[in-house]
Amino acid sequence: MRTIIEPFRIKSVEPLRHTTREERERFLEDAGYNLFLIAARHILIDLLTDSGTSAMSTEQWAAIMRGDESYAGSESFFRLKRVADDLTGLRHMVPAHQGRAAERILFTVMCKPGHIVPSNTHFDTTRANIEFTGARAVDLPVPEAADTQAQLAFKGNMDVAALEKLIAIEGEDRIPLVMLTVTNNSGGGQPVSMANIAAVQAVCARHGIPLYLDACRFAENAWFIRTREPGYTDWTPKRIAQKMFSYADGCTFSAKKDAFANIGGLLCSNDDRVFQQETNLLILTEGFPTYGGLAGRDLDAIAVGLEEVLDADYLNYRIVSTGYLGRHIADHGVPIVEPPGGHAIYIDAARMLPHIPKEQFPAQALAVELYRHAGIRSVEIGTLMFGDAAQHELLRLAIPRRVYTQSHIDYVVEAILEVNEHKQNIRGMVLLESAPSLRHFSARLRPLAS
Ligand code: F0G
Repeated sequence: MRTIIEPFRIKSVEPLRHTTREERERFLEDAGYNLFLIAARHILIDLLTDSGTSAMSTEQWAAIMRGDESYAGSESFFRLKRVADDLTGLRHMVPAHQGRAAERILFTVMCKPGHIVPSNTHFDTTRANIEFTGARAVDLPVPEAADTQAQLAFKGNMDVAALEKLIAIEGEDRIPLVMLTVTNNSGGGQPVSMANIAAVQAVCARHGIPLYLDACRFAENAWFIRTREPGYTDWTPKRIAQKMFSYADGCTFSAKKDAFANIGGLLCSNDDRVFQQETNLLILTEGFPTYGGLAGRDLDAIAVGLEEVLDADYLNYRIVSTGYLGRHIADHGVPIVEPPGGHAIYIDAARMLPHIPKEQFPAQALAVELYRHAGIRSVEIGTLMFGDAAQHELLRLAIPRRVYTQSHIDYVVEAILEVNEHKQNIRGMVLLESAPSLRHFSARLRPLAS
């Protein structure tokens, strides 16, 4: 059979609420044209993020009932530790309430002012947590990643020559760790090849620098390796993931992505001394090391999710269905970051709306129009989010895991193609007010008059 179906059936459903165009116009006005400020009950299809928005399985809900809420030495912790150890092979693991909590602890222990932390591309919380310690976060993506239209199998790779050059110029003592984000979220959800992970590790090892994975979407990355990198077609996703982790000295992980959990994170390391310091900090801000800011039941949900996510049928469906959305809009003239990523499709709004200059936030104007037209929520990743540091003007459509069916995605395709037909009528936006940092959460805007 050629048709790829959702590899699950639905046992519990949540109703979606339709709104009228007039209502949406009012919600937009009240929210200052900032989709973060619209109540979720007024959204029909929510593609704001794939983080914490997954549908859990019957096995995960059953595991939640088994959660052991002991303060210390909870059985839930040991169940999670067995699964995490088997997957990562890393000696130490502590839970944290989500990915950025793990990041904060890691960088507080490892970084100080004057330090530099290179990555293929840092996610924004990762960058912010590095810079909060006084260190500098540096992105070293492969040069082809700058071209949204370039068709590359592993466009999330790090530029290994640029890493060597950075180490030669700055000195290895100033680089406490190197990170690889798999998949590369800020770079369009693009994967990193096993060969690139190995090459980065070899450079790190030569200079005695530890390599950490930001492993949020490790399973999606493993599937891309299986389908695109020679030599892995017969490997199970789990074996590929284990090999990816075998190059790492540690990892941060948000269980809100590739563990289908609604909350949670992990921090893993092979370094006994670093781990000791991390544990001390964890107790200050997250909790005792066998629960780290989570309930026992959350640990169980993560343990089950970490195994389920490596199911080949699930991963095939996941990557094919994201690609389905990407191809159906791109092949009808909507420019996207090519090729489609694992968890999201990114529309290149600068290309789609060349009449709107970046100072007028073309991707935000598109996000507003898509909501106004069809009740779909997406997120601007461009000048509104990053200011002058923005590399592109993108609109991200992130797909929650196991939540929407193909007919929901067909609705999204239809809406985007209709918006594309009247795109010349879309007007830019003016920023009225915002907090100095993280302004996309608080910004209030107004559309320019036509
Ligand atoms: N690293 C990457 C690559 C991420 O995508 C995220 C979160 C984090 C770290 C932080 O994890 O949210 O659990 O604290 N990304 C979400 C997103 C928020 O929408 O892409 P967290």
